[in-house]
Amino acid sequence: MKLGFLPLLPQSNSDLLFILLLLYSLTFSNQQACNPQDQQSLFAFCNSLSSSLGPLNWSSDTNCCSSWEGIGCDEEGRVTLLWLPLRGLEGSISASLGSLTSLSKLNLSYNHLIGYLPERLFSSLNSLEIFDIQSNSLYGNLSASFFSDGSFSSTIQVIDISSNIFHGGIEPYWFFHGSNLSSFNASNNGFTGNIPLAICITCPLLRTLDFSDNSFSGELPVGLGGCLNLRVLRAGFNLLSGLLPDDIYRLRSLVELSLPVNNIGGTIGSGILELANLKIIKLYSNNFAGTIPQEIGKLFKLEQLYLQINNLNGSIPASLMNCTNLVKLILRVNSLEGNISKLDFSRLNHLQTLDLGNNKFIGNLPETLFSCKSVTAVRVASNNLAGSIPPNIVALTSLTFLSLSNNSFTNVSNAIKIFAGCKSLVTLILSKNFYNEVIPGIKTFIGQEGFKNLQVLALGGCNFEGQVPEWLVYINNLVALDLSYNRITGKIPDSIGNLSSLFYLDFSRNLLRGDFPLQLSRLPALISERVAQKLSLSFLQLPVFVSPNNVTTRQYNQLEHLPPAIYLSGNHLSGRIPVEITQLQNLHILDLSENSFSGSIPPNFSNLTNLEMLDLSQNNLTNGIPTSLRNLNFLSRFNVSHNQLEGPIPEGGQFETFTESSYIGNPGLCGRVLQSPCSAQPVQDAQHQDTADKSKKTFLVEGFLTGFSIIFPSVLAIQAYRHRRILYYSKKR
Ligand SMILES: *[C@@H]1O[C@H](CO)[C@@H](O)[C@H](O)[C@H]1NC(C)=O
Ligand SMILES: *[C@@H]1O[C@H](CO)[C@@H](O)[C@H](O)[C@H]1NC(C)=O
Ligand SMILES: *[C@@H]1O[C@H](CO)[C@@H](O)[C@H](O)[C@H]1NC(C)=O
Ligand SMILES: *[C@@H]1O[C@H](CO)[C@@H](O)[C@H](O)[C@H]1NC(C)=O
Ligand SMILES: *[C@@H]1O[C@H](CO)[C@@H](O)[C@H](O)[C@H]1NC(C)=O
Ligand SMILES: *[C@@H]1O[C@H](CO)[C@@H](O)[C@H](O)[C@H]1NC(C)=O
Ligand SMILES: *[C@@H]1O[C@H](CO)[C@@H](O)[C@H](O)[C@H]1NC(C)=O
Ligand SMILES: *[C@@H]1O[C@H](CO)[C@@H](O)[C@H](O)[C@H]1NC(C)=O
Ligand SMILES: *[C@@H]1O[C@H](CO)[C@@H](O)[C@H](O)[C@H]1NC(C)=O
Ligand SMILES: *[C@@H]1O[C@H](CO)[C@@H](O)[C@H](O)[C@H]1NC(C)=O
Ligand SMILES: *[C@@H]1O[C@H](CO)[C@@H](O)[C@H](O)[C@H]1NC(C)=O
Ligand SMILES: *[C@@H]1O[C@H](CO)[C@@H](O)[C@H](O)[C@H]1NC(C)=O
Repeated sequence: MKLGFLPLLPQSNSDLLFILLLLYSLTFSNQQACNPQDQQSLFAFCNSLSSSLGPLNWSSDTNCCSSWEGIGCDEEGRVTLLWLPLRGLEGSISASLGSLTSLSKLNLSYNHLIGYLPERLFSSLNSLEIFDIQSNSLYGNLSASFFSDGSFSSTIQVIDISSNIFHGGIEPYWFFHGSNLSSFNASNNGFTGNIPLAICITCPLLRTLDFSDNSFSGELPVGLGGCLNLRVLRAGFNLLSGLLPDDIYRLRSLVELSLPVNNIGGTIGSGILELANLKIIKLYSNNFAGTIPQEIGKLFKLEQLYLQINNLNGSIPASLMNCTNLVKLILRVNSLEGNISKLDFSRLNHLQTLDLGNNKFIGNLPETLFSCKSVTAVRVASNNLAGSIPPNIVALTSLTFLSLSNNSFTNVSNAIKIFAGCKSLVTLILSKNFYNEVIPGIKTFIGQEGFKNLQVLALGGCNFEGQVPEWLVYINNLVALDLSYNRITGKIPDSIGNLSSLFYLDFSRNLLRGDFPLQLSRLPALISERVAQKLSLSFLQLPVFVSPNNVTTRQYNQLEHLPPAIYLSGNHLSGRIPVEITQLQNLHILDLSENSFSGSIPPNFSNLTNLEMLDLSQNNLTNGIPTSLRNLNFLSRFNVSHNQLEGPIPEGGQFETFTESSYIGNPGLCGRVLQSPCSAQPVQDAQHQDTADKSKKTFLVEGFLTGFSIIFPSVLAIQAYRHRRILYYSKKR
């Protein structure tokens, strides 16, 4: 056909150009011209959007079918494809989208779209096959996008509306013609009402259903059994109750069953053994009771079993050890029992994570576990395990996380020697074991090669005697150290100040003496946020639970979320609070309560701009509270009660939020919050006796004589915590 133009002899250069262009367009674009109405609709669509990544190259001079980014057409020039994911699009979706009635594939995922979907959109798009708008900020009630009683087009195959802010219900009749629907993802929105399981009756080809992270409630209705092709079912992080419906056990193709963080109860029926393709079972944080099905070993494809935080009892079925593909086995916080030494782990060659914490297991760490070369994380905290640490644990050369806290293990010297040889260990939590033993102290106890990768060491709540171990100085990578709730005596060794990554230190509740260790004010990771940010902090394979002061418990999934902190409360430390402490600009928590510190509160405490908690209560501090402390904008907890402070309490800033209890037991203090008005002249900061110079001198004279006391307010790792979802709107940015 293009040859037919050749006889037209060019009369001029511009004619030649014209012919060449014509040839070019005929050769390279066998597309039809763009349908004019569709072009208008696309312009209207485009006009309501902008993009941080630059404008779309949609121009009226070019054919929308062949030259427009993200657009495709059928043979008649009707637009069938609108594919602009990850394109930085901002703004709302124009109602004109509904005029593209031939549109079959739409993908606007991962943009910044806001607003409602156009009214009756789904009733107009009657060729729609793929509809993907996930990860935007679209909102509203989807009902408005259908004619009353309307449904998705019978051509629909994939719907992904996840990670938006939609609310209202999802109605079963939307799917009445969904006979080709294979995937529906509504996760991470604010949907309410029942899960529309009738979807399974009208959409038998469904392979993927994801309702997780919404506010669906009620019982799981019957209907699932129609989804005989279902591979993935997720409905976790909702408010579902009732029992597992029996017809769930008909889904023989199911590979993943994830219903965590709901209130589903009853037992895990043996019907589950029929689902022989299951690889992932996540039923954690529910109310399941009874035992784990005895023949669970029939699920030989199983890779991940998450049953933590339920009321399961009985023992771990021996058959589970036949699931040789297991990678993750998480059973913490149940009432499981039995002697775990008797379990034969030796065939679980792929096992990486084992969490048996907070149950009623007895025995010791099973020897057979040590042949599982892939193991990286083990947690058996809060059981009734006993005995000394088996030396063969060093065979777990990939082990990075180990938590044994709150058991009755014995022989701490032996344990430290063995663990020092576990080359990969990053997190070692031994708190609440080894009661009343003496912690080994001499520097040579572990070699220089010991604990090469260790970042977290928790030895709190063991009632240890002895001194702060000198071998700690060899643990170069240490970021968090807990020795709280012991009976450790002596001074805090200066050498602690040489731990260049240390930013969390808890020595509270011991018998430590001496001055505030000046070397602590040299800790680089507490001085500079930038230094702290550069630390290569490991991701925690299992959460760590921290209970500073043995009161609140926080769960940490990442080491970098641990607050930079010094806890020294409940010791016999004395002397002044050195002004050098104000160099620790990255410090978030400083607890010096219940010691014998005297002198003034250094006025330049206000340099610690990141401070969130400052507890100086129950010491012997004198003079005034520096008014400059009101510049500490993040300070949310402040306690100077039971000292000898005097003068006015600062006003303004965070000081408006502290109550009387922060100040009681200081007869000389006055101010509104104590309902005791101050006399005319306020105590000035200048009255403080510690000047920077003077303190520096103190440092020079006493700097190497001071002792340190440390602690991780004990008891890392004891309780597990039931996380609830955050309301959907607060999840957004
Ligand atoms: C517009 O962008 C698309 C893809 O980025 C490209 O294929 C097309 O040629 C461009 N059109 C014009 C007219 O530049
Ligand atoms: C939409 O585009 C995103 C980004 O390229 C892609 O990950 C996603 O799979 C697409 N959706 C569908 C249904 O193909
Ligand atoms: C469903 O899919 C099949 C196979 O792809 C196709 O032949 C049929 O036309 C589709 N049905 C509808 C209503 O689109
Ligand atoms: C559903 O979408 C979310 C993102 O919005 C994604 O994380 C999740 O994996 C998807 N579900 C399925 C079953 O693919
Ligand atoms: C959503 O819209 C439907 C139909 O208009 C209405 O019945 C329902 O109450 C709405 N839901 C919410 C939460 O607004
Ligand atoms: C498990 O608990 C149930 C009650 O919830 C009780 O009936 C059953 O005997 C217990 N089983 C075992 C093995 O302890
Ligand atoms: C484990 O599997 C083997 C062979 O498949 C079988 O003989 C044995 O009974 C199973 N063990 C348990 C405890 O189910
Ligand atoms: C647990 O089992 C092991 C191995 O059979 C046995 O040596 C040990 O005494 C048992 N422990 C308890 C507390 O029963
Ligand atoms: C320690 O373990 C016991 C059971 O062995 C449990 O009752 C207790 O609550 C645990 N302590 C903490 C602080 O979790
Ligand atoms: C922590 O507090 C609990 C009660 O709140 C107490 O029983 C326990 O002994 C305390 N732990 C330590 C190590 O003091
Ligand atoms: C406190 O901060 C000021 C200004 O950032 C600085 O000049 C001073 O040296 C700091 N004082 C101490 C003790 O770090
Ligand atoms: C506080 O200081 C006074 C006098 O300096 C002293 O008698 C008292 O023992 C000190 N109290 C504490 C708790 O150190």
